[in-house]
Amino acid sequence: MNPNLVNFIYLIAGVLFILGIKGLTKPKTAVRGNMLSALGMLLAVVVTLLSIHHVDFAYIIAGLILGTLVGAVMALRVQMTSMPQMVALLNGFGGGASLAIAVAEYFSKLGMVPSSFADALLPTEANSSLFGAGIEGEVALIAIGLTVMIGAVTLTGSLIAFLKLQEVMKKSYGLPGGPVGNAILALASLAAVAFLVINPGHVGVMLAMIVLALALGLFLVMPIGGADMPVVIALLNSYSGIAAALAGFILGNTVLIVAGSLVGTSGLILTQIMCVAMNRSLANVLFGKMAAGGEKIDADEIYAGKVTSAQPDEVAMILETAKRVVIVPGYGMAMAQAQHAVRELANAMEARGIEVEYGIHPVAGRMPGHMNVLLAEAEVPYDKLVEMERINPTFEETDVVIVIGANDVTNPMARDVEGSPIYGMPILNVDKARTVVVIKRSLSPGFAGLPNPLFAMDHTLMVYGDGKKAVIEMTTALNQS
Ligand code: TAP
Repeated sequence: MNPNLVNFIYLIAGVLFILGIKGLTKPKTAVRGNMLSALGMLLAVVVTLLSIHHVDFAYIIAGLILGTLVGAVMALRVQMTSMPQMVALLNGFGGGASLAIAVAEYFSKLGMVPSSFADALLPTEANSSLFGAGIEGEVALIAIGLTVMIGAVTLTGSLIAFLKLQEVMKKSYGLPGGPVGNAILALASLAAVAFLVINPGHVGVMLAMIVLALALGLFLVMPIGGADMPVVIALLNSYSGIAAALAGFILGNTVLIVAGSLVGTSGLILTQIMCVAMNRSLANVLFGKMAAGGEKIDADEIYAGKVTSAQPDEVAMILETAKRVVIVPGYGMAMAQAQHAVRELANAMEARGIEVEYGIHPVAGRMPGHMNVLLAEAEVPYDKLVEMERINPTFEETDVVIVIGANDVTNPMARDVEGSPIYGMPILNVDKARTVVVIKRSLSPGFAGLPNPLFAMDHTLMVYGDGKKAVIEMTTALNQS
């Protein structure tokens, strides 16, 4: 294939990736965005396959069939609530692929890989029109070393993230010295990269580097609690992109550099958004626990004698006279699988002419977009999902807020109590509404482990019970009134 044509198609693929990511920023365009990115990837893969020489297609076709089968079964069977695990695995595979490319390139440069394999996969003279010249000498060795390091860390780190989210690994293990132990391991891996650049022929150093980096990935993620895994996964996603971009430099393959850089930067941006929304630094997520709080917060002191409870049919009576209702979902809605019941309740309210919107906090639930995904599954129209910045100014004109299984994302302490561990975390100001109905099973705290003064406010009614059951009872009572 003409190299100019190849590069032109790579350019189209790159544009499709960018349009795809843009589409993914809004629920309405997300499916189209996904399709555009997938089309870009298909173009890039087909063109690459058509361009390489001396390739044994039998291996590639076998890999495609096997990969498609495994991927299709996994995608069809995965539960929405297990999506973070699936993403963790995919990140790990991406890191592993970059690791494999870098190792193959290293051995081919030493002349240790059978030529047919090297010819097919790596830049040789025959393939140089496709892959460009590729980088050579010390720069190539630095790129190989860094790809091995980042790829290996991504591989084992992601596998641990998967095991933690799947609750196969429940305990936290770490190196003695914690972050210091990890820093020593990271420095040893970097030293191995430097040694390899000076002594490229030392196969033993390459093997040591692989082992050190694999161990680093394990020990970086093992001490981190399961609930912090979504942030870690976003970060590992970014690493997998960086490793792919570096692999692109090794091969001189532009589309790999573009795709890897896009994944690397978008992963970093997502990590940053999640840390800001949780009001935690990345270092705190990676090396610490939730901040320990300036003063001890006594739940009894906050709740004693001040909490008012209500039954679902009493709430239905309040809803009858409401003009505007905002539903605020949280982790408990996911746990109760109440999204369809919530949609039914919204339908019943809308049938009575009540304006209904959903207030979505960026870290409600346990993964980015958790609430959006669940409500989309229940076919709630996208334009009803209103993000925090836009819904907050409307609470003062809202008659009733129904908080279903949300806790931390509504906790006024984050706004008002300077000594509190979550002080500074942006929240949904649901307490500004005229009446607040909170559906949860008890007064137990949420992820941050803190009591919530919202539950004890004069205009708050607690409806105790499983989210789905309580919402169904409310809908039935409303429909019968
Ligand atoms: P949380 O503060 O974790 O509170 C969830 C509440 O749901 C709990 O208080 C629990 O109370 C209730 N619940 C559990 N099962 C229920 C059921 N079957 N029916 C009804 N209620 C049920 O949730 P949130 O407000 O969504 O906040 C999310 C938290 O997770 C934030 O602290 C955030 O920083 C953190 N986090 C989020 C992410 C992402 S990316 N979303 C990632 C990591 C951490 P009961 O036990 O009394 O029912």
